[in-house]
Amino acid sequence: MTNATILAIESSCDETAVSIIRGNKSQVEILSSEVTSQIDLHKEYGGVVPELASRNHSLTLRPLVEQALKNANIPLSQIDAFAATAGPGLASSLLIGHTSAKALAVSNRKPFLSVNHMEGHLISPFIDSKNGIQPNTALVVSGGHTMILQTKEFGDYELLGKTLDDAAGEAFDKVAKMLELPYPGGPQIELQAQNGNPTAYPFPRSMKNKPHFNFSFSGLKTAVLYTLSELNPQDGTPLTPHIPDICASFQKAVTDILIHKTINAAKSKSSPLITLSGGVSCNNALRDAFTEAGKKNNIAIKFCPPSFTTDNAAMIAFVGLHMFLRGESSDLSCDIDPNMRLNSIIIRK
Ligand code: KG4
Ligand code: ZN
Repeated sequence: MTNATILAIESSCDETAVSIIRGNKSQVEILSSEVTSQIDLHKEYGGVVPELASRNHSLTLRPLVEQALKNANIPLSQIDAFAATAGPGLASSLLIGHTSAKALAVSNRKPFLSVNHMEGHLISPFIDSKNGIQPNTALVVSGGHTMILQTKEFGDYELLGKTLDDAAGEAFDKVAKMLELPYPGGPQIELQAQNGNPTAYPFPRSMKNKPHFNFSFSGLKTAVLYTLSELNPQDGTPLTPHIPDICASFQKAVTDILIHKTINAAKSKSSPLITLSGGVSCNNALRDAFTEAGKKNNIAIKFCPPSFTTDNAAMIAFVGLHMFLRGESSDLSCDIDPNMRLNSIIIRK
């Protein structure tokens, strides 16, 4: 089977990442996957500051490409194509990685591959597969997106449901902010929840009884806000003793609804396999509950390997590799698209 080597750059938000992978449709080897996080830079602002992010990408990228080549132990001449994230994400951040990969492609006379970040998350559970991408019902849960898709094969995806307001990761981050926990909130809530009672607060499971596979997390976020004002920390009563129970109950509410909708979506498609990807999918409570629900419903569950759940360039290289093997390449005049939607990947049917 034909093998190819791809170098990819990911710079859609606050992580600068470069990865080199080699492989074919069935199996890939991650030769290097470098990620530098800017979390410390943005922490004091409680979220990502676009101007700071793009300046940092431009400073970090060049040494990171060199690091990736060094760790992969291959010369630049062995790269068959250069890929980069085109969207969705922050415009000024996307431009740095996208333009750099184009420059590498031109100067090395190799194809350029413009990649949708969400397709990277979507197929990332198969990055450690030995028999390629299998048909599955996919739950993608990140900071910006929450959606369920039916994947037939690479490039053939059907959107079954999505969030109508906040993404699950966004809800984690906003609730953490209310509780004055550091950014990003997801891992902090998971940590606090370990010492809490998940049934302490009956937070809502929005749209659970609706027949569709869409989500809504804004009501849950408001319910947490009301609970906090009832506990009234302003009168001097410390909120701290309640934090573990609030986090555990909130995490359970998110987990319950994600599992309920995804299992039902899989059943509606008679799908024997569910995959999970995106930043929120590294949450251990979510993984454990999904494993249990999968056993109960006789559906196999495949998780994205933990190191590739949050933003990384290996998943972008993985998409790039499949595009390259299909003979696809992107025109050098192609632009970034901060609001890139799913249509742009579904179109490849
Ligand atoms: O996929 P990702 O790195 O970036 C996007 O493309 O959005 O996801 C980041 C999101 C953040 O909202 C973060 O709070 C959440 O993933 N996250 C978690 C955990 N680790 C990261 N949420 C819940 N539990 C975690 N352990
Ligand atoms: Zn992402």
